[in-house]
Parts: sequence; structure tokens; C-alpha cells
Amino acid sequence: MSDPTTPDVPDFENRDPNSPGFWDERFVQHYTPWDQAGVPEMFTRFVASRGAQNVLIPGCGSAYEALYLAERGWPVRAIDFSAAAVEAARAQLGAHARVVEEADFFAYAPPFSPDWIYERAFLCALPKNRWQDYAARMAALLKPGALLAGFFFIGATPKGPPFGIERDELNALLLPSFALIEDHEVTGSIPVFAGRERWMTWRRI
Ligand SMILES: C[S@@+](CC[C@H](N)C(=O)[O-])C[C@H]1O[C@@H](n2cnc3c(N)ncnc32)[C@H](O)[C@@H]1O
Repeated sequence: MSDPTTPDVPDFENRDPNSPGFWDERFVQHYTPWDQAGVPEMFTRFVASRGAQNVLIPGCGSAYEALYLAERGWPVRAIDFSAAAVEAARAQLGAHARVVEEADFFAYAPPFSPDWIYERAFLCALPKNRWQDYAARMAALLKPGALLAGFFFIGATPKGPPFGIERDELNALLLPSFALIEDHEVTGSIPVFAGRERWMTWRRI
């Protein structure tokens, strides 16, 4: 991701965030400015407010949240289409490594009906030409009443990733199939997302 607070950006070959190779290069070179190196507080609060349910984490990266849920006995699947990301996730998941799969979100069929799909830095990893596909796939995977909840990066960016999204664009994408039931300011964001993350909970209608 482009990050004005990180001047030493390696010279990457792959410029296409729609390809796994783009992300592989970044994980291999340990250039992951989006990585929180832990579990966000609003995520843990959300988990604490609910009973165990089926959770899907697309574009999981290092998958800290998957470990958090697996350790608490929640049924969770974390997927990423970058082999290097999956390797990083498996390394830190240890005994729970089986919850991670190498898969493309747009073709993936989870082994359960997700009650909650967790969003963090996945939509903003996708170029705008995939946003409609994202909304359609989310709507297809979630049954009425199920949730798409997590962190959304609000406000357009000149380039990306991260590709920020304007509120009205996000509404246009999701409101046909979802109702927005929570929308909170986020504190404690890492620099690349600071001041522009919202915790949002969208319920499939
Ligand atoms: C910015 S990183 C965020 C990782 C993680 N969610 C986090 O919060 O640290 C975006 C991740 O999405 C993955 N990704 C992008 N497009 C994908 C797709 N179509 N299917 C699965 N994973 C994808 C990338 O490989 C990358 O690991």
C-alpha cells in the first residue's frame, strides 16, 4: 500500500493488486504497512458481544483475528489468494493453521453458511473495478440476517491500495442488499488508516 509515513518503499515489479503476485511480493519483502500486528480492539468488543458463530475472513493476510476466534472455539475460515500471505498466516496460527485456505474470494465456497463476514483492509485492497463484484459476492454468501461487519476505509484516494471509498459509493454498493445497523468512529488505527476507518455492521436483508 502507498504510505506517506513509510518513505522506503521497495521497488516492486507487480503493479496489479488484482493478482496474487502483487501481494506475494509485498509479504515476501515484509512490506505490509496495513498489518496491525495484532487484533483491533473494536473487533474484540464485537466478538465479546456475540455467541460463537460461523465467521469468514476474506483477504485475511496474517490472520490475527482468525487465531483469536479459533482459540475461543469459534468456527472460522480465513482465506487469502496470496501464497505468501497464507504462509504468514499459517506460521502465526500454529496449531490452528488448518483454518486458513489459499483461495480467491470471488470463487470461494465456504464450508459453512457464514453468520458474519469480517472486513478489514480487504475492500480497500481491491481496485474500484472489483467493488461491484465484492458487493455481489458478499450478498450471495450471506443469508438474510447475517452480517458483513468490520473496518471500512472511507474517503477516495488518488491511487491505491489502499483504495478508499466515498460513503455514497459504499451505500450505493451495499444498500441494495444490506441495511447499515452500526457505524462508529475508530480509534487506535495504524497510520495508513488513521482518521478514516469506520466500524460498520451491515445486515443482509
Ligand atoms: C491489505 S491486505 C489486508 C490483510 C488483512 N485483512 C489485514 O487486515 O491485515 C489485503 C489482502 O487481501 C488479499 N486479497 C486481495 N484480493 C484477494 C482475493 N480476490 N481473494 C483473496 N484474497 C485477496 C491480499 O492477498 C492481501 O493479503
